[in-house]
Amino acid sequence: MPEPLGVIGAGWVGLVTAACFADLGHDVVVRDVAPERIAELEAGRVPIYEPGLAELIDRNRDRLRFTLDPEEVFAAARIAFVCVPTPPTYTGEADLSAVERVLDELPELAERAILVMKSTVPVGTGERLRFRLDSRSLAHVGYVSNPEFLAEGTALRDFIHPDRVVIGAFDETDGNAVAALYEPIDAPVVRADVASAEMIKLASNAFLATKISFINEISNVCEETGADVSVVAGGMGLDRRIGSLFLRPGIGYSGSCLPKDVSALKQLAGNSGYHFQLLTAVIEVNELQKRRVMGKLTKHLGGLRGKTIAILGLAFKPNTNDLRDAPSLILAPRLLAEGAEVRGWDPVALEEARAIMRGVDLRSTLLDAVTGADAAVIVTEWDELRDLAKPEIRDAMRNPLIIDGRNLLDPDTVRAAGFTYESMGRASSDLRALPETEEPDPEPELQT
Ligand code: UGA
Repeated sequence: MPEPLGVIGAGWVGLVTAACFADLGHDVVVRDVAPERIAELEAGRVPIYEPGLAELIDRNRDRLRFTLDPEEVFAAARIAFVCVPTPPTYTGEADLSAVERVLDELPELAERAILVMKSTVPVGTGERLRFRLDSRSLAHVGYVSNPEFLAEGTALRDFIHPDRVVIGAFDETDGNAVAALYEPIDAPVVRADVASAEMIKLASNAFLATKISFINEISNVCEETGADVSVVAGGMGLDRRIGSLFLRPGIGYSGSCLPKDVSALKQLAGNSGYHFQLLTAVIEVNELQKRRVMGKLTKHLGGLRGKTIAILGLAFKPNTNDLRDAPSLILAPRLLAEGAEVRGWDPVALEEARAIMRGVDLRSTLLDAVTGADAAVIVTEWDELRDLAKPEIRDAMRNPLIIDGRNLLDPDTVRAAGFTYESMGRASSDLRALPETEEPDPEPELQT
């Protein structure tokens, strides 16, 4: 009989963890501090968008319980996963106040219990928390680091079919207890000390970000030299030492994890007296990449004052309604500052966008968003945009210009459909003869 589990934090990681363990047969008590969130979950509504999650929670309803009370978690379970947010502070370090609150709210525990840290925390956090537990006479509360490697949009698959499970423990028995929970999952288990487990998580995300910034710089050089980055990335990726994943150029990495974890690792290194030069460059390249679309727009449209630009895709990536650090949030204010009229469309994130995208005219259909527009910019590679280059869209636009920030479309097909098309790191369309971009008349030759 699978043992009962606790999950502290009903956010995206917590709900995915709870739903997947419930599906493996565990009874799971999920605790959150937000009454509205618990009320929604109790009423059968899942307050985040992750493909398949609502169905999985519904299917395992009998094994899932939601509560505001931390005591209920430990009354039912011996092992509790900590899945609370660790957002960046203004200096880039991780804010650990939610993690500390979990410790502060631990009820009196007569028997041994284990806290399993899934939240991403700086290296050394486990050691500090171990010390705090010990100094509060809570030596019988075990601590295990078990970082999550879930990506938004594919989280359920990533949980059930992970590349690896990482378990860092102070006490081997605690590590064994957590490892046993993953037995039904077919993946290598990496047993480590706590600090190394914490570092595996941060270093993995920092490496992924480095790969993206690297291919983005290659993409920019391809534009200057006439090479095609898709062909280049394909050729590089076949080398098993490089690998083909995370070599898609675009408008920079974003979301709630990569930017935060790269900064946190850089800060952590800095605080320990080491200047992590490579990560400084990775971050800078990423910031500049988000702004590259502006150059492509002005190249074709000249000044943007009075021009209508449609931002297609607002979420930071497809299959999520997460807008955290999304390129759309950088691009929209830049366009507005240049005097453009900005429209926005997204198949799932419109409601979230409404709350934060001031001055952007949000439209619920794609056709509506591009009607009368001078340019359409693909910011998120939603499937709905794959057939964007159709006559209906071309005829609706004032100027049929597509800037594809994700290389979602095939250049030849789009151009054959009558669009001017720019993407990232691939050959660009000839410039349209707009007044702002016309070549000046050549000087008349002097008669000698
Ligand atoms: C990332 C990691 O992929 C997960 O392994 C990790 O668990 C998670 O962070 C986390 O720490 O919680 P996520 O942020 O959901 O997951 O999204 P990714 O799919 O990694 O994409 C991150 C960003 O990189 C997106 O903006 C995406 O558009 C961009 N990206 C990704 C590229 O620009 N090029 C690529 O080739 C791949």
